[in-house]
Amino acid sequence: MSDATLQLAVIIGSVREGRFGPVVARWFAEQAEQHGAFAVDVIDLADTPLPLELPPVPPALEPHMARPDGMADLTRRLGAADAVVVVTPEYNRSFPASLKAAVDWHYTQWQAKPVGFVGYSGGSGGILAMEQLRQVFGELHAHTLRDVVSFPRYYLLFDQDGTLKEPEGPAGAAKVMLDRLLWWGSVLRDARRERPFAAEL
Ligand SMILES: Cc1cc2nc3c(=O)[nH]c(=O)nc-3n(C[C@H](O)[C@H](O)[C@H](O)COP(=O)(O)O)c2cc1C
Repeated sequence: MSDATLQLAVIIGSVREGRFGPVVARWFAEQAEQHGAFAVDVIDLADTPLPLELPPVPPALEPHMARPDGMADLTRRLGAADAVVVVTPEYNRSFPASLKAAVDWHYTQWQAKPVGFVGYSGGSGGILAMEQLRQVFGELHAHTLRDVVSFPRYYLLFDQDGTLKEPEGPAGAAKVMLDRLLWWGSVLRDARRERPFAAEL
């Protein structure tokens, strides 16, 4: 991978049977591939055991703690990311518990990295979930992007085969977000290389 290429993790936040998340993530991953600046890694949280029972010591205090069997791959891929996009639905005005568990099991993996959001749901298009995620990622020293992609009433917007009926608007929103991710991701990657991030200051 050239230094001009940023490692982008696209996280599918929902894990329930029959979920729509992979359709949205597939569409966004295509946008990111076409953008040209990113090596895209789609991370499906359904592939990873995410216990709700968290470790006795917070990851903030023990970043290299032992994690459950089966989480190592997720941890490695999050750690390798220069930029993150979370694909989230909205459950009762918030984001899925699966996503919160994945976030809470990690700490340094999020630090000093840009995080973008792609939301989908009923009327709100995932906006309420995304706004709550901003609070969470702020605690982790991640930088959340102002610009998001939102699909209100997504079930009216995609065909049966998962193709967007009118792709221009969402593609434009994705391009804006990817351009911002590239800027923040490059700047923060260089900064992390120059001076490791010290959260305990
Ligand atoms: C438990 C639950 C709560 C939901 N709450 C909301 C909500 O507050 N706002 C909304 O717009 N949609 C809500 N929905 C609709 C979901 O956004 C929609 O079902 C979406 O497909 C969920 O994403 P998923 O299919 O990837 O799991 C809710 C769905 C579930 C299952």
